[in-house]
Amino acid sequence: MDLGLKGKVAVVTGASRGLGKAIAYGLAAEGTALAVCSRSEPLITEIARDISDRYQTAVHWEARDLLSPGACESFIRSTMERFGCLDILVNNVGAGLSKPFEDIAEEEWQHILDINLRVAIRCCRAAIPIMKQRGRGRIINVAALSGRVPRLGQIGSNVAKAALINLTESLAREVAPYGIRVNAVCPAAVMTERWEERIKKVAKESGEDFATAMRNMAKRSIPVGRFGSPEEVASAVVFLASGKADFITGTCLILDGGIGTGISLELK
Ligand SMILES: NC(=O)c1ccc[n+]([C@@H]2O[C@H](COP(=O)([O-])OP(=O)(O)OC[C@H]3O[C@@H](n4cnc5c(N)ncnc54)[C@H](OP(=O)(O)O)[C@@H]3O)[C@@H](O)[C@H]2O)c1
Repeated sequence: MDLGLKGKVAVVTGASRGLGKAIAYGLAAEGTALAVCSRSEPLITEIARDISDRYQTAVHWEARDLLSPGACESFIRSTMERFGCLDILVNNVGAGLSKPFEDIAEEEWQHILDINLRVAIRCCRAAIPIMKQRGRGRIINVAALSGRVPRLGQIGSNVAKAALINLTESLAREVAPYGIRVNAVCPAAVMTERWEERIKKVAKESGEDFATAMRNMAKRSIPVGRFGSPEEVASAVVFLASGKADFITGTCLILDGGIGTGISLELK
């Protein structure tokens, strides 16, 4: 199926690993040119070169901390200098915070809101005037199930992702008349380094090997009985970025293997 993505230019923030990396590969496989960034210069350079070789597509990359003042704006500017246009913005950068409310210090609130929300706001502010001028654009925000269904012990990221979802919905209405569609994906339990670390800890505590701990954890907590893969999230993002999703805006596509569909009284 032709998704209509050939020759489009896509920005993916935080593409050196995990979901952002899979999204970058997924878009490049459909023929988009890419602008990608992360803080780690060796990682983002390696990924950009691999994508460019594998898909014969142009890749602009930068090692950049998007929390630094002016970084988001200047990344969008350098993308424009390289490609002269911008069709798709994927706001993927984000982080979790496992702490109860009373333990979260002021600067931790600042950080969790900055990394999950303000970076996306800044990238949108820089990209929207360009998209408006072109009369077309696609923005996909990587939120989380926990922004819809709060996760115990994660109040900081719950609140930040809920705000990102509201940004998605509010902005979608505002920019729809200009041909710009804004959607979010809300993943949970997708196997990335963060989950690998958590499972290693559980395995150490329980004395199980990694694969057994992962299988048991998934059976206990995820209705479909397994973790999701970054590529499954990437497929959803590619669809939302494509011409096949032109009538979809302001939506949050949940990718959680059924976790958010009901309560689980799993007590161990
Ligand atoms: N995995 C899940 O199950 C899950 C569930 C719900 C939501 N999510 C959301 O999905 C997104 C990706 O998650 P992930 O698990 O793939 O995360 P991850 O493995 O921690 O990857 C985050 C990416 O963002 C980059 N990054 C982090 N801080 C940055 C900064 N200040 N400036 C520029 N780049 C930065 C990282 O590269 P560097 O370290 O090189 O900068 C990396 O490429 C996040 O928004 C997360 O909240 C994931």
